[in-house]
Amino acid sequence: MSRPKISIIGAGNVGSIIALQAAQKELGDIVLLDVVEGMPQGKALDLSQMSGIFHFDAKITGSNNFADIKDSTIVVITAGVARKPGMSREDLLKINAEIIRKASENIKNYAPNAIVITVTNPLDMMTQLAFKTTGFKKNRVIGMAGVLDSARFAHFIAEELKVSSKDITPMVLGSHGDTMVPLPRYSTVSGVPLTDLMKPDVIKRLVERTANGGAEIVGLLKTGSAYFAPGTSAAIMIESILKDQKRILPCSAYLTGEYGLKDVFIGVPVSLGANGIENIIELKLSGEELAALHKSAGIVKEGIRSL
Ligand code: NAI
Ligand code: 2OP
Repeated sequence: MSRPKISIIGAGNVGSIIALQAAQKELGDIVLLDVVEGMPQGKALDLSQMSGIFHFDAKITGSNNFADIKDSTIVVITAGVARKPGMSREDLLKINAEIIRKASENIKNYAPNAIVITVTNPLDMMTQLAFKTTGFKKNRVIGMAGVLDSARFAHFIAEELKVSSKDITPMVLGSHGDTMVPLPRYSTVSGVPLTDLMKPDVIKRLVERTANGGAEIVGLLKTGSAYFAPGTSAAIMIESILKDQKRILPCSAYLTGEYGLKDVFIGVPVSLGANGIENIIELKLSGEELAALHKSAGIVKEGIRSL
């Protein structure tokens, strides 16, 4: 039996971490593709040599040719330009849209049965563009953001309460941007809602830091954006799909009436299994939470219209 094939379009920082995690977890064979000649081949060779230390079984190949993604089980798109200080995710919209269109056309041609995970920013808009360009069914096009945003929220909660992050189940909905919607009521520490454990002003501070989580790292790195947690977030989505784990993870999904929203990709909890998005979970939101989600979706729709 052959192993699943995971193709990663964009062998930059995030793409490399996804490849590293996927190899270590033995999720399948990996193709790293980039426009830069030699770079994906060099990274593939370097990663392959790690198998002599970690002893994983995975064939890792570097490529500059889209034909090499042929018949992939999963294709992850990380190709694009990363945020620089002072640049908003929306600034990236136009530059990255062209890259996503080209990648999506090639996925449609070479890997028509693949499940697509997008990472490139602005995330929800790029996911919607990949959905439209590939013409794939909605369960097979998924955006990675909520897992990362929730992980950030979990880290800040663990630090504040001085507890293990293992006991935290965070929940962040909405678009991957300034209007994301962290949900303190649905974020729990060993089953206890955050709203029972922290004062509102402390929660507010952590929510704001989460929404600013990407920019905080951009400001520190100065030459690019975060990649360890983003790459790992995409890898656990791949794992949930390939192992049919059906984990409930917040992902950018195409809504067709859920949460009162239609024809838009936005972060909501979904069940991820062998068929991609197998179920969209509708949480009971308060009026305020729902309004925040709608505001966030409005920004995505505006961006899509501008394309
Ligand atoms: P990076 O600059 O390290 O890597 C991007 C790679 O894409 C480069 O190697 C570049 O050569 C390649 N590339 C550009 N055009 C291409 C094309 N047409 N075909 C194939 N490869 C192409 O950037 P990094 O840090 O890996 O970030 C990648 C993207 O992911 C950015 O848009 C970034 O904003 C986004 N991002 C999204 C996150 C999320 O939560 N959704 C989190 C972190 C990053
Ligand atoms: C992040 O949140 C830049 O979207 C990227 O780190």
